[in-house]
Amino acid sequence: MEAKTEILVEKLQSSQATKIFALEKMSFPDSFWNIRQIVSHLESQPGIGIFGVEENFAGSLLSYILYLENAWEIEILRIASHREFRRKNYASICLASIIEENPNKSIHLEVDSSNSNAIELYRKHGFQFVDKRKAYYENGNDAYLFVRQGLSP
Ligand SMILES: CC(C)(COP(=O)(O)OP(=O)(O)OC[C@H]1O[C@@H](n2cnc3c(N)ncnc32)[C@H](O)[C@@H]1OP(=O)(O)O)[C@@H](O)C(=O)NCCC(=O)NCCS
Repeated sequence: MEAKTEILVEKLQSSQATKIFALEKMSFPDSFWNIRQIVSHLESQPGIGIFGVEENFAGSLLSYILYLENAWEIEILRIASHREFRRKNYASICLASIIEENPNKSIHLEVDSSNSNAIELYRKHGFQFVDKRKAYYENGNDAYLFVRQGLSP
Protein backbone atom coordinates (compact mmCIF):
# COMPACT_ATOMS: atom_id res chain seq x y z
CA MET A 1 0.00 0.00 0.00
CA GLU A 2 1.27 3.50 -0.89
CA ALA A 3 2.26 5.57 2.14
CA LYS A 4 0.18 8.72 2.64
CA THR A 5 2.05 11.92 1.88
CA GLU A 6 1.60 14.69 4.43
CA ILE A 7 0.21 17.91 2.95
CA LEU A 8 -0.92 21.36 4.04
CA VAL A 9 -4.06 22.95 2.57
CA GLU A 10 -3.91 26.76 2.79
CA LYS A 11 -5.49 29.91 1.42
CA LEU A 12 -3.10 31.32 -1.17
CA GLN A 13 -1.44 34.72 -0.75
CA SER A 14 -0.15 37.02 -3.50
CA SER A 15 3.36 36.56 -2.07
CA GLN A 16 3.17 32.94 -3.32
CA ALA A 17 2.65 34.00 -6.96
CA THR A 18 6.03 32.66 -8.11
CA LYS A 19 5.14 29.14 -6.99
CA ILE A 20 1.76 29.34 -8.71
CA PHE A 21 3.40 30.69 -11.86
CA ALA A 22 5.69 27.63 -12.03
CA LEU A 23 2.67 25.30 -11.96
CA GLU A 24 0.78 27.49 -14.44
CA LYS A 25 3.61 27.11 -16.97
CA MET A 26 3.80 23.37 -16.36
CA SER A 27 0.04 22.86 -16.64
CA PHE A 28 -1.03 25.38 -19.28
CA PRO A 29 2.01 25.76 -21.59
CA ASP A 30 0.00 27.69 -24.20
CA SER A 31 -2.17 29.80 -21.94
CA PHE A 32 -0.48 30.33 -18.57
CA TRP A 33 -1.20 33.38 -16.43
CA ASN A 34 1.78 35.62 -15.80
CA ILE A 35 2.90 36.67 -12.33
CA ARG A 36 1.13 40.04 -12.60
CA GLN A 37 -2.20 38.35 -13.37
CA ILE A 38 -1.76 35.94 -10.45
CA VAL A 39 -0.83 38.71 -8.00
CA SER A 40 -3.70 40.86 -9.19
CA HIS A 41 -6.14 37.96 -8.76
CA LEU A 42 -4.98 37.13 -5.25
CA GLU A 43 -5.08 40.76 -4.11
CA SER A 44 -8.85 40.73 -4.39
CA GLN A 45 -10.02 37.14 -4.97
CA PRO A 46 -9.34 33.76 -3.37
CA GLY A 47 -7.23 30.74 -4.07
CA ILE A 48 -6.41 27.52 -2.25
CA GLY A 49 -3.10 25.67 -2.44
CA ILE A 50 -1.81 22.29 -1.33
CA PHE A 51 1.79 22.31 -0.14
CA GLY A 52 4.16 19.43 0.50
CA VAL A 53 5.71 19.10 3.95
CA GLU A 54 8.11 16.23 3.47
CA GLU A 55 11.74 16.13 2.41
CA ASN A 56 12.33 17.27 -1.19
CA PHE A 57 8.84 18.72 -1.54
CA ALA A 58 8.65 20.65 1.74
CA GLY A 59 7.04 24.01 0.92
CA SER A 60 6.43 23.07 -2.72
CA LEU A 61 3.07 23.86 -4.26
CA LEU A 62 1.51 20.56 -5.39
CA SER A 63 -1.94 21.72 -6.47
CA TYR A 64 -3.97 24.94 -6.52
CA ILE A 65 -7.26 26.51 -7.47
CA LEU A 66 -8.02 30.17 -8.20
CA TYR A 67 -11.62 31.33 -8.26
CA LEU A 68 -13.95 34.32 -8.20
CA GLU A 69 -16.68 34.57 -5.61
CA ASN A 70 -19.59 36.81 -4.78
CA ALA A 71 -22.55 36.37 -2.46
CA TRP A 72 -24.36 33.99 -4.85
CA GLU A 73 -21.89 32.13 -6.97
CA ILE A 74 -18.35 31.01 -7.63
CA GLU A 75 -16.43 30.77 -10.87
CA ILE A 76 -13.41 28.48 -11.06
CA LEU A 77 -10.70 30.18 -13.15
CA ARG A 78 -7.65 27.94 -12.72
CA ILE A 79 -7.08 24.49 -11.30
CA ALA A 80 -3.99 22.33 -11.69
CA SER A 81 -1.79 19.79 -9.94
CA HIS A 82 1.97 19.37 -10.26
CA ARG A 83 2.64 16.80 -12.95
CA GLU A 84 4.43 14.49 -10.46
CA PHE A 85 1.50 14.69 -8.04
CA ARG A 86 -1.48 14.00 -10.25
CA ARG A 87 -4.12 11.38 -9.47
CA LYS A 88 -3.46 11.77 -5.74
CA ASN A 89 -6.77 13.46 -5.07
CA TYR A 90 -5.21 16.92 -4.65
CA ALA A 91 -7.36 18.78 -7.20
CA SER A 92 -10.34 17.05 -5.57
CA ILE A 93 -9.30 18.33 -2.15
CA CYS A 94 -9.11 21.89 -3.54
CA LEU A 95 -12.54 21.62 -5.18
CA ALA A 96 -14.12 19.90 -2.17
CA SER A 97 -12.91 22.59 0.17
CA ILE A 98 -14.69 25.27 -1.88
CA ILE A 99 -17.86 23.17 -2.12
CA GLU A 100 -17.90 22.52 1.64
CA GLU A 101 -17.34 26.18 2.51
CA ASN A 102 -20.03 27.38 0.09
CA PRO A 103 -22.83 24.80 0.10
CA ASN A 104 -25.49 27.27 -1.08
CA LYS A 105 -23.60 28.81 -3.98
CA SER A 106 -23.64 27.57 -7.53
CA ILE A 107 -20.17 26.96 -8.97
CA HIS A 108 -19.44 27.27 -12.65
CA LEU A 109 -16.46 26.86 -14.95
CA GLU A 110 -15.32 26.43 -18.54
CA VAL A 111 -13.24 23.52 -19.76
CA ASP A 112 -11.70 22.60 -23.11
CA SER A 113 -13.90 19.86 -24.60
CA SER A 114 -10.78 17.72 -25.19
CA ASN A 115 -9.68 17.85 -21.52
CA SER A 116 -11.21 14.55 -20.47
CA ASN A 117 -9.20 14.35 -17.22
CA ALA A 118 -10.61 17.66 -15.99
CA ILE A 119 -14.12 16.77 -17.21
CA GLU A 120 -13.96 13.51 -15.20
CA LEU A 121 -12.82 15.50 -12.16
CA TYR A 122 -15.76 17.91 -12.44
CA ARG A 123 -18.35 15.19 -13.00
CA LYS A 124 -17.01 13.34 -9.97
CA HIS A 125 -17.76 16.44 -7.89
CA GLY A 126 -21.33 16.85 -9.10
CA PHE A 127 -20.82 19.32 -11.95
CA GLN A 128 -23.15 19.00 -14.93
CA PHE A 129 -22.67 20.02 -18.53
CA VAL A 130 -24.97 22.94 -19.36
CA ASP A 131 -23.77 24.48 -22.63
CA LYS A 132 -20.89 24.83 -25.02
CA ARG A 133 -19.14 27.70 -26.78
CA LYS A 134 -18.10 26.62 -30.25
CA ALA A 135 -14.44 27.06 -31.22
CA TYR A 136 -13.87 29.11 -28.07
CA TYR A 137 -10.19 28.31 -27.62
CA GLU A 138 -7.27 29.33 -29.86
CA ASN A 139 -6.76 25.66 -30.80
CA GLY A 140 -10.28 25.65 -32.27
CA ASN A 141 -11.72 23.43 -29.53
CA ASP A 142 -15.11 24.08 -28.00
CA ALA A 143 -15.48 25.22 -24.39
CA TYR A 144 -17.85 23.18 -22.26
CA LEU A 145 -19.67 25.03 -19.52
CA PHE A 146 -20.24 23.05 -16.33
CA VAL A 147 -22.28 24.04 -13.28
CA ARG A 148 -22.67 22.58 -9.82
CA GLN A 149 -25.90 23.86 -8.30
CA GLY A 150 -25.83 24.99 -4.67
CA LEU A 151 -28.32 23.78 -2.11
CA SER A 152 -31.38 25.99 -1.72
CA PRO A 153 -30.84 28.17 1.35
C1 LIG B 1 -7.13 17.94 -14.32
C2 LIG B 1 -6.17 17.96 -13.14
C3 LIG B 1 -6.31 19.34 -12.43
C4 LIG B 1 -6.58 16.84 -12.15
O1 LIG B 1 -5.75 16.98 -11.00
P1 LIG B 1 -5.47 15.74 -10.04
O2 LIG B 1 -4.91 16.29 -8.77
O3 LIG B 1 -4.69 14.71 -10.75
O4 LIG B 1 -6.96 15.20 -9.81
P2 LIG B 1 -7.48 14.16 -8.70
O5 LIG B 1 -6.37 13.24 -8.32
O6 LIG B 1 -8.17 14.91 -7.63
O7 LIG B 1 -8.52 13.34 -9.58
C5 LIG B 1 -9.89 13.31 -9.30
C6 LIG B 1 -10.65 12.62 -10.40
O8 LIG B 1 -10.47 13.30 -11.64
C7 LIG B 1 -10.47 12.33 -12.70
N1 LIG B 1 -9.13 12.28 -13.32
C8 LIG B 1 -8.07 13.04 -12.99
N2 LIG B 1 -7.00 12.70 -13.78
C9 LIG B 1 -7.43 11.72 -14.60
C10 LIG B 1 -6.81 10.96 -15.63
N3 LIG B 1 -5.50 11.16 -15.95
N4 LIG B 1 -7.54 10.03 -16.28
C11 LIG B 1 -8.84 9.83 -15.98
N5 LIG B 1 -9.49 10.51 -14.99
C12 LIG B 1 -8.79 11.44 -14.31
C13 LIG B 1 -10.81 10.99 -12.05
O9 LIG B 1 -12.22 10.89 -11.97
C14 LIG B 1 -10.23 11.20 -10.66
O10 LIG B 1 -10.79 10.35 -9.70
P3 LIG B 1 -10.15 8.89 -9.43
O11 LIG B 1 -8.66 9.10 -9.27
O12 LIG B 1 -10.83 8.45 -8.18
O13 LIG B 1 -10.50 8.09 -10.64
C15 LIG B 1 -4.70 17.69 -13.57
O14 LIG B 1 -4.67 16.60 -14.46
C16 LIG B 1 -4.00 18.88 -14.21
O15 LIG B 1 -3.37 19.69 -13.53
N6 LIG B 1 -4.13 19.00 -15.54
C17 LIG B 1 -3.50 20.13 -16.27
C18 LIG B 1 -4.24 21.43 -15.99
C19 LIG B 1 -5.71 21.33 -16.38
O16 LIG B 1 -6.07 20.77 -17.41
N7 LIG B 1 -6.59 21.93 -15.52
C20 LIG B 1 -8.02 21.96 -15.77
C21 LIG B 1 -8.39 23.14 -16.60
S1 LIG B 1 -10.17 23.26 -16.84
